[in-house]
Amino acid sequence: MKGQDISPVSRTKEEARRCYDRISRVYDYFAAPFERKYAQMTLERLSIQEGETVLEIGFGTGHCLERIAQSIGQSGRACGIDISPGMLEVTRRRLSKAGLMDRVTLHCGDAANLPYEDNTFDAAFISFTLELFDTPEIPRVLAEVKRVLKAGGRLGVVSMSRENGQSKLLRLYEWAHCKWPRYIDCRPIYLEQSLKNAGYEIKSKTKVRLLGLPGEIVIGMKA
Ligand SMILES: C[S@@+](CC[C@H](N)C(=O)[O-])C[C@H]1O[C@@H](n2cnc3c(N)ncnc32)[C@H](O)[C@@H]1O
Repeated sequence: MKGQDISPVSRTKEEARRCYDRISRVYDYFAAPFERKYAQMTLERLSIQEGETVLEIGFGTGHCLERIAQSIGQSGRACGIDISPGMLEVTRRRLSKAGLMDRVTLHCGDAANLPYEDNTFDAAFISFTLELFDTPEIPRVLAEVKRVLKAGGRLGVVSMSRENGQSKLLRLYEWAHCKWPRYIDCRPIYLEQSLKNAGYEIKSKTKVRLLGLPGEIVIGMKA
C-alpha cells in the first residue's frame, strides 16, 4: 500500500531543531541551488493576491516568506512557523532588512500543532518540509493546515516524490537517507495521495526533477 514503503523518521523533534539551528546561517549556500527554483514555481502556482492572509510552514531562512510578504502588500498578513529559533532569527533579519516585518508574524514551534484559529488563512505554503515529518504525522500536519485554512483556501506544497515509482538514483538516495538520517533528512513521499487522503481537492500537479531525483508540486484546495 502507498505510504507503507516510505522510510520512517528516527530523528526526534529536538534533534531536528538542533540540526536546523546549527545550519541556519549557511543553509542558503547549499540548499538554494537545489531547492529554491521549485519553491518559487510553487509560489507562482499558488498565485497569492494582495490583501490575502498566508501561512508558511517550515520557512527556513525566509526567502519565500519575503516573496509572500511582497505579494500580499500592506493590506495582507503573513504568518510563518518553524521549529528552529536559529532559522527564525535569520528570517527576522531578512524581513527587517527588506522592511517587511510589519506585515509578518513569526512563530517558533512544531507545525504538527498550529497555534492559529480555525479558518484564518486564504493560502498556505510548504516547501521541502512536509517530507521531514514521520509518515503517521503527515496526515496530522495536513489536517492542521486544513483546519486553519478558510473554505476555498489553497495549499501549495513542493516535496521530493515517490509518486512515479523508483529509479536507481532514488533507491540510492533512500539508502543514504536510511544510513545517515540526520544529514540527509528529506525523503520522498506520496505527495498528491497524501493531500487527497487529507480531503483536499487537487487543483494542479507538476512533476519536477531535483538534481535527477523526482519531485512534485501540488496545489490543493479546502473544499
Ligand atoms: C529543508 S528546510 C526547508 C526550508 C524552506 N522551506 C526552504 O524551502 O528553503 C526545512 C525547514 O523546516 C523546519 N522544520 C523541521 N521540522 C519542523 C517542524 N516539526 N515544525 C516546523 N518546522 C519544522 C526546519 O527548521 C527548516 O527550517
